[in-house]
Amino acid sequence: MFGKLLSKKHPDIDRILLPEDKIRQKVRELAEKIRKDYQDKQPVLISVLKGSFVFLSDLVRCLEIPCSVDFIGLSSYGGATDSTGVVRMIMDLKDTINARDVIVVEDIVDTGLTMDYLKRNLLTRNPKSLRICSLLDKKEARKIEVEIDYCGFSVPAEYLVGYGLDFNELYRNLPYVGVLKKAVCRKK
Ligand code: PRP
Repeated sequence: MFGKLLSKKHPDIDRILLPEDKIRQKVRELAEKIRKDYQDKQPVLISVLKGSFVFLSDLVRCLEIPCSVDFIGLSSYGGATDSTGVVRMIMDLKDTINARDVIVVEDIVDTGLTMDYLKRNLLTRNPKSLRICSLLDKKEARKIEVEIDYCGFSVPAEYLVGYGLDFNELYRNLPYVGVLKKAVCRKK
């Protein structure tokens, strides 16, 4: 039963926006761009938890340069469908990023509030460089300007789940990105 839910369209999903193969291809392209830009460097990829854990794990396995990974836990949604606008740090990095080439890895930039908070926070730690890689960019929802250096897909302002993105902590394990049915968002 569970296997079927993962391989076919989940009943709570209105439509599949980005199927697995399209994501896989894009992840390879992003990794190749990063490889070219960081050939002689050893960047640290910072995964913003929880949403980006799936993207990060696929991205690093396509990235053919030495790199390290670290994790930071941020949250702004607290279980609701709209951002509270208040970003909270749940878990800090393990290592220092002083003088390191840093690439922040996100699943989605939506209002931009999380990324704005994170950029300002990381810059106080004196990295050598700081770039942003986000699989998804929901430009229409932006409340604050954020520049994304490596962007996968521009997506519409709909409630998206799968490939790391959740609704009430569910659906992160779907292998594709889909639009959640409105009736499901309303249930909560
Ligand atoms: C999601 C997503 C981004 C952030 C983007 O995280 O993973 O970090 O929202 O939204 P913004 O641009 O409007 O700030 P969320 O706070 O839902 O936590 P999660 O990653 O644990 O799901």
